Amino acid sequence: MKLGNHAYRTIWPDGFGNPVKIIDQRFLPHRFDVVALDTLADAETAIRDMWVRGAPLIGVTGVYGVYLALRAQNDDAGLTGAHERLLATRPTAVNLRWALQRAVQKIAPLAAADRALAAYQLAAEIADEDVEINRMIGVHGRDVIEAIAASKPAGEAVNILTHCNAGWLATVDWGTATSPIYQAHDGGTSLHVWVDETRPRNQGASITAFELANHGVPHTVIVDNAGGHLMQHGQVDMVITGTDRTTANGHVCNKIGTYLKALAAFDNAVPFYVALPSPTIDWSLTDGVAQIPIEERSAREVSHIWGRLDDGRHAEVKIIPDESAAANPAFDVTPARLITGGLITERGIAAASSAGLQKLFPAEQRNGA
Ligand code: MRU
Repeated sequence: MKLGNHAYRTIWPDGFGNPVKIIDQRFLPHRFDVVALDTLADAETAIRDMWVRGAPLIGVTGVYGVYLALRAQNDDAGLTGAHERLLATRPTAVNLRWALQRAVQKIAPLAAADRALAAYQLAAEIADEDVEINRMIGVHGRDVIEAIAASKPAGEAVNILTHCNAGWLATVDWGTATSPIYQAHDGGTSLHVWVDETRPRNQGASITAFELANHGVPHTVIVDNAGGHLMQHGQVDMVITGTDRTTANGHVCNKIGTYLKALAAFDNAVPFYVALPSPTIDWSLTDGVAQIPIEERSAREVSHIWGRLDDGRHAEVKIIPDESAAANPAFDVTPARLITGGLITERGIAAASSAGLQKLFPAEQRNGA
Protein backbone atom coordinates (compact mmCIF):
# COMPACT_ATOMS: atom_id res chain seq x y z
CA MET A 1 0.00 0.00 0.00
CA LYS A 2 1.40 3.35 -0.96
CA LEU A 3 1.35 6.40 1.26
CA GLY A 4 2.69 9.22 -0.85
CA ASN A 5 5.61 7.67 -2.69
CA HIS A 6 6.44 5.09 -0.06
CA ALA A 7 5.14 1.51 -0.32
CA TYR A 8 4.40 0.23 3.18
CA ARG A 9 3.57 -3.05 4.75
CA THR A 10 2.05 -2.78 8.23
CA ILE A 11 4.88 -4.75 9.86
CA TRP A 12 8.38 -5.41 8.62
CA PRO A 13 11.65 -6.83 9.90
CA ASP A 14 14.76 -4.71 10.11
CA GLY A 15 17.38 -7.43 9.82
CA PHE A 16 17.84 -10.52 11.95
CA GLY A 17 18.76 -9.60 15.53
CA ASN A 18 17.12 -6.19 15.30
CA PRO A 19 13.72 -4.98 16.49
CA VAL A 20 10.67 -5.25 14.25
CA LYS A 21 8.95 -2.16 12.83
CA ILE A 22 5.22 -1.55 12.81
CA ILE A 23 2.83 1.20 11.86
CA ASP A 24 1.30 2.30 15.16
CA GLN A 25 -2.40 2.54 14.33
CA ARG A 26 -3.61 4.16 17.54
CA PHE A 27 -3.57 7.73 16.38
CA LEU A 28 -4.58 7.42 12.74
CA PRO A 29 -5.66 9.32 10.76
CA HIS A 30 -4.20 12.29 12.60
CA ARG A 31 -0.77 10.89 13.39
CA PHE A 32 1.21 8.34 11.39
CA ASP A 33 3.88 6.78 13.60
CA VAL A 34 6.33 3.98 12.90
CA VAL A 35 7.59 2.31 16.08
CA ALA A 36 10.01 -0.49 16.87
CA LEU A 37 9.08 -3.59 18.86
CA ASP A 38 12.14 -4.77 20.76
CA THR A 39 10.91 -7.30 23.29
CA LEU A 40 8.20 -9.87 23.94
CA ALA A 41 6.53 -7.33 26.23
CA ASP A 42 6.50 -4.79 23.37
CA ALA A 43 4.76 -7.30 21.09
CA GLU A 44 2.22 -8.15 23.79
CA THR A 45 1.43 -4.49 24.36
CA ALA A 46 1.20 -3.76 20.65
CA ILE A 47 -1.39 -6.51 20.15
CA ARG A 48 -3.37 -6.04 23.37
CA ASP A 49 -3.52 -2.24 23.16
CA MET A 50 -4.17 -2.33 19.43
CA TRP A 51 -1.12 -0.54 18.10
CA VAL A 52 -1.58 -3.29 15.53
CA ARG A 53 -4.92 -4.92 14.99
CA GLY A 54 -6.95 -6.96 12.53
CA ALA A 55 -6.94 -10.75 12.58
CA PRO A 56 -4.20 -11.45 9.99
CA LEU A 57 -1.87 -8.75 11.30
CA ILE A 58 -2.04 -9.87 14.91
CA GLY A 59 -1.15 -13.39 13.76
CA VAL A 60 2.02 -12.15 12.05
CA THR A 61 2.86 -9.85 14.96
CA GLY A 62 2.48 -12.83 17.30
CA VAL A 63 5.17 -14.78 15.45
CA TYR A 64 7.48 -11.77 15.40
CA GLY A 65 6.77 -11.61 19.15
CA VAL A 66 8.04 -15.19 19.46
CA TYR A 67 11.19 -14.13 17.59
CA LEU A 68 11.70 -11.18 19.95
CA ALA A 69 11.18 -13.47 22.96
CA LEU A 70 13.66 -16.07 21.68
CA ARG A 71 16.32 -13.41 21.18
CA ALA A 72 16.29 -13.03 24.95
CA GLN A 73 15.55 -16.60 26.05
CA ASN A 74 15.74 -19.46 23.56
CA ASP A 75 15.13 -22.47 25.81
CA ASP A 76 11.85 -24.41 26.11
CA ALA A 77 10.60 -22.18 28.92
CA GLY A 78 11.23 -19.12 26.74
CA LEU A 79 9.23 -20.60 23.88
CA THR A 80 6.34 -21.82 26.02
CA GLY A 81 6.19 -18.57 27.96
CA ALA A 82 6.10 -16.49 24.78
CA HIS A 83 3.37 -18.69 23.32
CA GLU A 84 1.21 -18.38 26.42
CA ARG A 85 1.69 -14.65 26.89
CA LEU A 86 1.02 -13.77 23.25
CA LEU A 87 -1.99 -16.07 23.02
CA ALA A 88 -3.57 -14.31 26.00
CA THR A 89 -3.41 -10.86 24.37
CA ARG A 90 -6.57 -11.09 22.28
CA PRO A 91 -8.94 -14.05 22.39
CA THR A 92 -11.27 -13.78 19.40
CA ALA A 93 -9.28 -13.71 16.15
CA VAL A 94 -8.17 -17.26 15.50
CA ASN A 95 -5.25 -16.17 13.32
CA LEU A 96 -3.20 -15.48 16.43
CA ARG A 97 -3.70 -19.02 17.77
CA TRP A 98 -3.09 -20.49 14.32
CA ALA A 99 0.14 -18.56 13.76
CA LEU A 100 1.50 -19.25 17.26
CA GLN A 101 0.74 -22.97 16.94
CA ARG A 102 2.55 -23.02 13.64
CA ALA A 103 5.52 -21.29 15.28
CA VAL A 104 5.68 -23.74 18.19
CA GLN A 105 5.42 -26.76 15.87
CA LYS A 106 8.29 -25.50 13.76
CA ILE A 107 10.52 -24.18 16.52
CA ALA A 108 10.15 -26.62 19.41
CA PRO A 109 12.14 -29.46 17.74
CA LEU A 110 15.08 -27.15 16.91
CA ALA A 111 18.26 -26.61 18.90
CA ALA A 112 17.96 -23.55 21.13
CA ALA A 113 20.59 -21.63 19.18
CA ASP A 114 18.60 -21.96 15.94
CA ARG A 115 15.24 -20.94 17.28
CA ALA A 116 15.25 -17.15 17.03
CA LEU A 117 16.27 -17.27 13.36
CA ALA A 118 13.60 -19.89 12.61
CA ALA A 119 10.92 -17.69 14.22
CA TYR A 120 12.15 -14.66 12.30
CA GLN A 121 12.00 -16.57 9.03
CA LEU A 122 8.60 -18.06 9.78
CA ALA A 123 7.13 -14.64 10.57
CA ALA A 124 8.35 -13.36 7.20
CA GLU A 125 6.93 -16.45 5.48
CA ILE A 126 3.49 -15.99 7.08
CA ALA A 127 3.59 -12.28 6.21
CA ASP A 128 4.27 -13.09 2.56
CA GLU A 129 1.54 -15.72 2.54
CA ASP A 130 -0.89 -13.18 3.95
CA VAL A 131 -0.11 -10.73 1.17
CA GLU A 132 -0.70 -13.37 -1.50
CA ILE A 133 -3.91 -14.64 0.13
CA ASN A 134 -5.28 -11.12 0.24
CA ARG A 135 -4.26 -10.40 -3.32
CA MET A 136 -6.22 -13.47 -4.43
CA ILE A 137 -9.26 -12.50 -2.33
CA GLY A 138 -9.12 -9.29 -4.32
CA VAL A 139 -8.98 -11.14 -7.63
CA HIS A 140 -12.12 -13.15 -6.78
CA GLY A 141 -13.95 -10.30 -5.10
CA ARG A 142 -13.24 -7.94 -7.93
CA ASP A 143 -15.29 -10.19 -10.23
CA VAL A 144 -18.28 -9.74 -7.90
CA ILE A 145 -17.97 -5.96 -7.96
CA GLU A 146 -17.56 -5.93 -11.72
CA ALA A 147 -20.64 -8.14 -12.18
CA ILE A 148 -22.70 -5.72 -10.09
CA ALA A 149 -21.28 -2.79 -12.07
CA ALA A 150 -22.32 -4.49 -15.30
CA SER A 151 -25.88 -4.85 -14.01
CA LYS A 152 -26.20 -1.13 -13.27
CA PRO A 153 -26.84 1.72 -15.71
CA ALA A 154 -23.59 2.72 -17.43
CA GLY A 155 -21.42 5.01 -15.34
CA GLU A 156 -23.32 4.47 -12.08
CA ALA A 157 -21.02 3.67 -9.18
CA VAL A 158 -21.29 0.39 -7.28
CA ASN A 159 -22.10 1.27 -3.67
CA ILE A 160 -20.31 -0.98 -1.19
CA LEU A 161 -20.81 -0.85 2.55
CA THR A 162 -18.05 -2.05 4.86
CA HIS A 163 -17.70 -2.30 8.61
CA CYS A 164 -14.63 -1.84 10.83
CA ASN A 165 -11.29 -1.99 9.09
CA ALA A 166 -10.62 -5.15 7.14
CA GLY A 167 -8.15 -3.22 5.07
CA TRP A 168 -4.45 -2.99 4.42
CA LEU A 169 -3.89 -1.93 8.02
CA ALA A 170 -5.63 -5.04 9.38
CA THR A 171 -3.36 -7.32 7.36
CA VAL A 172 0.20 -7.18 6.07
CA ASP A 173 -0.93 -5.66 2.77
CA TRP A 174 -4.00 -5.30 0.53
CA GLY A 175 -6.55 -5.99 3.26
CA THR A 176 -9.24 -8.61 2.90
CA ALA A 177 -12.54 -6.73 2.40
CA THR A 178 -10.69 -3.85 0.76
CA SER A 179 -8.63 -5.93 -1.64
CA PRO A 180 -11.55 -6.41 -4.09
CA ILE A 181 -12.33 -2.72 -3.72
CA TYR A 182 -8.77 -1.60 -4.52
CA GLN A 183 -8.48 -4.02 -7.42
CA ALA A 184 -11.85 -3.09 -8.95
CA HIS A 185 -11.11 0.61 -8.49
CA ASP A 186 -7.64 0.26 -10.03
CA GLY A 187 -9.22 -1.64 -12.93
CA GLY A 188 -11.47 1.32 -13.72
CA THR A 189 -14.76 0.21 -12.14
CA SER A 190 -16.69 3.12 -10.74
CA LEU A 191 -17.40 2.47 -7.07
CA HIS A 192 -18.15 4.25 -3.83
CA VAL A 193 -17.70 2.92 -0.30
CA TRP A 194 -19.97 3.59 2.66
CA VAL A 195 -17.62 3.42 5.64
CA ASP A 196 -19.27 2.50 8.94
CA GLU A 197 -17.55 4.55 11.63
CA THR A 198 -17.48 1.41 13.88
CA ARG A 199 -17.81 2.57 17.43
CA PRO A 200 -16.33 2.35 19.93
CA ARG A 201 -12.81 2.52 18.49
CA ASN A 202 -13.85 3.93 15.14
CA GLN A 203 -11.69 1.71 12.98
CA GLY A 204 -13.89 2.59 9.99
CA ALA A 205 -13.86 6.34 10.44
CA SER A 206 -10.21 6.59 11.34
CA ILE A 207 -8.49 3.70 9.55
CA THR A 208 -10.60 2.51 6.60
CA ALA A 209 -11.31 6.11 5.60
CA PHE A 210 -7.59 6.93 5.89
CA GLU A 211 -6.73 4.03 3.60
CA LEU A 212 -9.40 4.77 1.01
CA ALA A 213 -8.52 8.46 0.96
CA ASN A 214 -4.87 7.60 0.37
CA HIS A 215 -5.77 5.25 -2.45
CA GLY A 216 -8.16 7.75 -4.03
CA VAL A 217 -11.26 5.57 -3.60
CA PRO A 218 -14.50 7.60 -3.34
CA HIS A 219 -16.04 7.01 0.07
CA THR A 220 -18.34 8.48 2.69
CA VAL A 221 -18.12 7.88 6.43
CA ILE A 222 -21.47 7.11 8.05
CA VAL A 223 -22.54 6.45 11.62
CA ASP A 224 -23.06 2.81 12.43
CA ASN A 225 -26.81 3.27 12.56
CA ALA A 226 -27.16 4.62 9.01
CA GLY A 227 -26.64 1.42 7.04
CA GLY A 228 -30.18 0.07 7.33
CA HIS A 229 -31.66 3.34 6.14
CA LEU A 230 -29.32 3.47 3.14
CA MET A 231 -30.22 -0.10 2.23
CA GLN A 232 -33.95 0.67 2.40
CA HIS A 233 -33.36 3.45 -0.11
CA GLY A 234 -31.44 1.34 -2.60
CA GLN A 235 -28.15 3.03 -1.87
CA VAL A 236 -26.15 -0.09 -1.04
CA ASP A 237 -25.41 -2.69 -3.74
CA MET A 238 -23.38 -5.03 -1.59
CA VAL A 239 -21.80 -5.37 1.83
CA ILE A 240 -18.27 -6.74 2.34
CA THR A 241 -16.84 -7.24 5.80
CA GLY A 242 -13.87 -9.04 7.27
CA THR A 243 -13.86 -11.85 9.80
CA ASP A 244 -11.92 -12.68 12.95
CA ARG A 245 -13.01 -16.29 13.12
CA THR A 246 -15.25 -18.31 10.82
CA THR A 247 -16.59 -21.70 11.86
CA ALA A 248 -16.29 -24.79 9.67
CA ASN A 249 -19.93 -24.30 8.64
CA GLY A 250 -19.65 -20.63 7.76
CA HIS A 251 -20.73 -18.61 10.80
CA VAL A 252 -18.70 -15.41 10.94
CA CYS A 253 -17.41 -13.64 14.00
CA ASN A 254 -16.37 -10.08 13.24
CA LYS A 255 -16.32 -6.61 14.75
CA ILE A 256 -19.31 -5.77 16.92
CA GLY A 257 -22.16 -4.50 14.76
CA THR A 258 -21.49 -6.76 11.79
CA TYR A 259 -24.50 -8.90 12.74
CA LEU A 260 -26.86 -5.92 12.67
CA LYS A 261 -25.62 -4.98 9.20
CA ALA A 262 -26.23 -8.52 8.03
CA LEU A 263 -29.79 -8.44 9.39
CA ALA A 264 -30.48 -5.18 7.60
CA ALA A 265 -28.90 -6.50 4.40
CA PHE A 266 -31.01 -9.67 4.58
CA ASP A 267 -34.21 -7.67 5.07
CA ASN A 268 -33.37 -5.54 2.05
CA ALA A 269 -32.04 -8.30 -0.23
CA VAL A 270 -28.61 -6.68 -0.35
CA PRO A 271 -25.94 -9.36 -0.93
CA PHE A 272 -23.69 -9.77 2.10
CA TYR A 273 -20.13 -10.98 1.50
CA VAL A 274 -17.36 -11.80 3.93
CA ALA A 275 -13.73 -11.68 2.82
CA LEU A 276 -12.22 -14.78 4.39
CA PRO A 277 -8.54 -15.73 4.35
CA SER A 278 -8.30 -19.45 5.13
CA PRO A 279 -6.18 -18.99 8.29
CA THR A 280 -9.26 -17.30 9.77
CA ILE A 281 -11.29 -20.51 9.56
CA ASP A 282 -11.56 -22.40 12.83
CA TRP A 283 -12.18 -25.91 11.51
CA SER A 284 -12.81 -27.20 15.03
CA LEU A 285 -15.98 -25.14 15.59
CA THR A 286 -19.51 -25.31 14.22
CA ASP A 287 -21.45 -23.05 16.60
CA GLY A 288 -20.17 -19.49 16.47
CA VAL A 289 -22.42 -18.00 19.13
CA ALA A 290 -21.78 -20.70 21.72
CA GLN A 291 -18.15 -21.51 20.97
CA ILE A 292 -16.27 -18.38 19.92
CA PRO A 293 -14.79 -16.40 22.82
CA ILE A 294 -15.87 -12.77 22.54
CA GLU A 295 -13.34 -10.24 23.75
CA GLU A 296 -14.69 -7.77 26.31
CA ARG A 297 -12.57 -4.62 26.09
CA SER A 298 -12.21 -1.69 28.42
CA ALA A 299 -15.32 0.36 29.20
CA ARG A 300 -13.18 3.44 28.61
CA GLU A 301 -13.32 2.79 24.86
CA VAL A 302 -17.08 3.41 25.12
CA SER A 303 -17.14 6.18 27.69
CA HIS A 304 -14.42 8.25 25.99
CA ILE A 305 -13.63 9.31 22.47
CA TRP A 306 -10.35 10.52 20.99
CA GLY A 307 -9.83 12.98 18.17
CA ARG A 308 -8.30 16.19 16.86
CA LEU A 309 -9.54 19.57 17.99
CA ASP A 310 -10.00 22.35 15.46
CA ASP A 311 -6.79 24.00 16.73
CA GLY A 312 -4.82 20.87 15.81
CA ARG A 313 -4.34 19.52 19.33
CA HIS A 314 -5.46 15.97 20.12
CA ALA A 315 -7.79 15.22 22.99
CA GLU A 316 -9.75 12.45 24.61
CA VAL A 317 -13.12 13.47 26.03
CA LYS A 318 -15.72 11.70 28.12
CA ILE A 319 -19.15 11.34 26.53
CA ILE A 320 -21.22 9.51 29.17
CA PRO A 321 -22.32 10.51 32.70
CA ASP A 322 -19.85 9.76 35.50
CA GLU A 323 -22.55 7.60 37.13
CA SER A 324 -23.09 5.36 34.06
CA ALA A 325 -21.52 2.00 33.48
CA ALA A 326 -20.37 1.01 29.98
CA ALA A 327 -19.98 -2.43 28.42
CA ASN A 328 -17.76 -3.20 25.47
CA PRO A 329 -18.19 -6.59 23.74
CA ALA A 330 -15.81 -6.25 20.80
CA PHE A 331 -17.18 -8.84 18.36
CA ASP A 332 -20.42 -10.53 17.37
CA VAL A 333 -21.41 -13.55 15.33
CA THR A 334 -23.28 -13.39 12.04
CA PRO A 335 -25.07 -16.67 11.29
CA ALA A 336 -24.18 -18.28 7.98
CA ARG A 337 -27.77 -17.96 6.70
CA LEU A 338 -27.34 -14.16 6.59
CA ILE A 339 -24.18 -14.33 4.47
CA THR A 340 -26.17 -14.34 1.28
CA GLY A 341 -23.40 -13.34 -1.15
CA GLY A 342 -20.81 -15.80 0.13
CA LEU A 343 -17.35 -16.12 1.59
CA ILE A 344 -14.66 -14.63 -0.64
CA THR A 345 -11.58 -16.77 -0.04
CA GLU A 346 -8.20 -16.95 -1.75
CA ARG A 347 -9.45 -20.06 -3.60
CA GLY A 348 -12.70 -18.57 -4.82
CA ILE A 349 -16.13 -17.79 -3.46
CA ALA A 350 -17.73 -20.33 -1.15
CA ALA A 351 -21.29 -20.58 0.07
CA ALA A 352 -21.36 -19.92 3.82
CA SER A 353 -21.89 -23.56 4.77
CA SER A 354 -19.93 -26.75 5.51
CA ALA A 355 -20.46 -27.92 1.96
CA GLY A 356 -19.35 -24.57 0.53
CA LEU A 357 -16.11 -24.51 2.51
CA GLN A 358 -15.54 -28.23 1.98
CA LYS A 359 -15.54 -27.76 -1.78
CA LEU A 360 -12.67 -25.26 -1.61
CA PHE A 361 -10.78 -26.69 1.37
CA PRO A 362 -11.39 -30.46 1.40
CA ALA A 363 -8.18 -31.41 3.19
CA GLU A 364 -8.47 -28.77 5.91
CA GLN A 365 -12.13 -29.59 6.54
CA ARG A 366 -11.35 -33.28 6.80
CA ASN A 367 -8.45 -32.79 9.21
CA GLY A 368 -10.20 -30.22 11.36
CA ALA A 369 -6.88 -28.38 10.94
O1 MRU B 1 -10.66 -5.18 17.00
P1 MRU B 1 -10.02 -5.16 15.65
O2 MRU B 1 -9.83 -3.79 15.09
O3 MRU B 1 -8.77 -6.00 15.60
O4 MRU B 1 -11.10 -5.88 14.73
C1 MRU B 1 -10.81 -6.08 13.37
C2 MRU B 1 -11.94 -6.68 12.61
O5 MRU B 1 -12.99 -6.94 13.14
C3 MRU B 1 -11.67 -7.03 11.18
O6 MRU B 1 -12.84 -6.95 10.43
C4 MRU B 1 -11.13 -8.47 11.12
O7 MRU B 1 -10.04 -8.62 11.96
C5 MRU B 1 -10.75 -8.84 9.76
S1 MRU B 1 -9.28 -8.04 9.28
C6 MRU B 1 -8.86 -8.45 7.73
